[in-house]
Amino acid sequence: MADSIVIFGASGDLTSRKLIPALYQLFVKGRLPGNSRIVGVSRSKFEHQQWRDSLRETTARYADDAFDAVTWDTFSKNVFYQSGDITNLEDFVALGAFLDLIEKDNASETDDRCGRVYYLSTMPQLYETAIQKLGESGLADDANGFRRVIIEKPFGTDLKTAQSLNQSIHTSFREDQIYRIDHYLGKETVQNIFALRFANSIFEPIWNRNYVDHVQITVAEEVVIGRRGGYYDTSGILRDMFQNHLLQLMMITAMEPPARYDASLVRDEKVKVLHSIRKMTGGDFASDTVRGQYSGYLDEQGVPVGSSTETFAVLKLFCDNWRWQGVPFYLRSGKGMSCRTTQIVIQFKQVPYIVFEDMPREPIGNRLVIQVQPAEGIQMHFETKVPDSEMKTRTSTLDFSFQGKNGGKSLPDAYQRLLLDSLNGDASLFARSDEVELAWGIIDPIIAAWNSPAAPALHHYETGLWGPTEATEWMREQHREWFDVCPVLR
Ligand code: BG6
Repeated sequence: MADSIVIFGASGDLTSRKLIPALYQLFVKGRLPGNSRIVGVSRSKFEHQQWRDSLRETTARYADDAFDAVTWDTFSKNVFYQSGDITNLEDFVALGAFLDLIEKDNASETDDRCGRVYYLSTMPQLYETAIQKLGESGLADDANGFRRVIIEKPFGTDLKTAQSLNQSIHTSFREDQIYRIDHYLGKETVQNIFALRFANSIFEPIWNRNYVDHVQITVAEEVVIGRRGGYYDTSGILRDMFQNHLLQLMMITAMEPPARYDASLVRDEKVKVLHSIRKMTGGDFASDTVRGQYSGYLDEQGVPVGSSTETFAVLKLFCDNWRWQGVPFYLRSGKGMSCRTTQIVIQFKQVPYIVFEDMPREPIGNRLVIQVQPAEGIQMHFETKVPDSEMKTRTSTLDFSFQGKNGGKSLPDAYQRLLLDSLNGDASLFARSDEVELAWGIIDPIIAAWNSPAAPALHHYETGLWGPTEATEWMREQHREWFDVCPVLR
């Protein structure tokens, strides 16, 4: 069976930087099904060979060591380009005819069904139009093989727009044909949280309110907004990072074990977490959130004078359920931070009573640090005795590094996993319509409160720090400390 992957918005950065290198690497590993065709669609005019040549250069750059000229030549024979305008129905009809042609060329005698995945990597304003035209032109009809659509983020800009986008997609595609991307779900360590939690018996008994004091989920980025100011200023950190990536990390950390590792059962459990998140009201918006903006943001290209858009935020969320009642989940993300690190810290409770007298320092509660990036791994913190001392203790660590256990080879980029899963029809690592809408339902009221006259103060911070000092103070007032450590594993 020959499948086609059709990329709309093919002349964009995502295609050359992520999608084609990921597909090429899957091909190298022999994981790309059959003679899969890859067809790029955008308005620019290119000959097939011209497009292949431009991709050759970028793939050599982004596919690292995997690039090899001979393999590329074989791979790129199945890469095509079709110029087309997303607003023009005739261009979709022409695309359909072109796909029929190249797929027929490849169909086996016994099976002439060809599956198609349509990847929308266009401007988000064009998603609805593209989907409508796919429907009208018959390209969504799956009588002759699967038809799936992958939609990049952002999925709407609030609950209302997400609902309306879901509604219009559902007029052309069924929910099981829709794959909403959150690239954080494609990261190896994020998937490893499933393994850590549901393939081990030692963590489950302590993964709850009886043992866990709180959870910190931090996505810190060293980069600043740079030239993305035009987009970013209308978005802000809650839309850009929290509604999707941070809440996804929280769902996977907090969810119950699914009955089976199956797309709908996994997503049912994740959705239950969103249902259990306590809605903020009244004074919560001031007491349970921190807003920040790095100094210099206002000078970035495309940022309007006097903008109060946040580049840093903290949310303190609670899950009202049996497992997590009373355990705060601190979600924190910022640009212009001291380093790039994404980590989930499970902070366990302090020992109930210290039996050693005259200890120079109190033992810390145990911690499990799941480092999602840059290096993927897990670190366990526990107390040990300082040798040759009275009963003095210090914190020791047990490290697990994925890279070390992968023969030193780098881990696959998230897009490899996600593209492969969409071709294989596994939607476990994609967001479902109810998930996206519920996530907006949590974030929208916070955005509204931050835009209201009663908004909490916007704190400014210098780049290269862990956000505003007020965020550190705020945590201390709760008798807790941020785990402000740059990657614990390298
Ligand atoms: C994107 C956001 O979704 O994720 C960016 O729009 C952010 O602002 C990026 O920089 C972070 O992704 P990663 O994989 O580099 O952590």
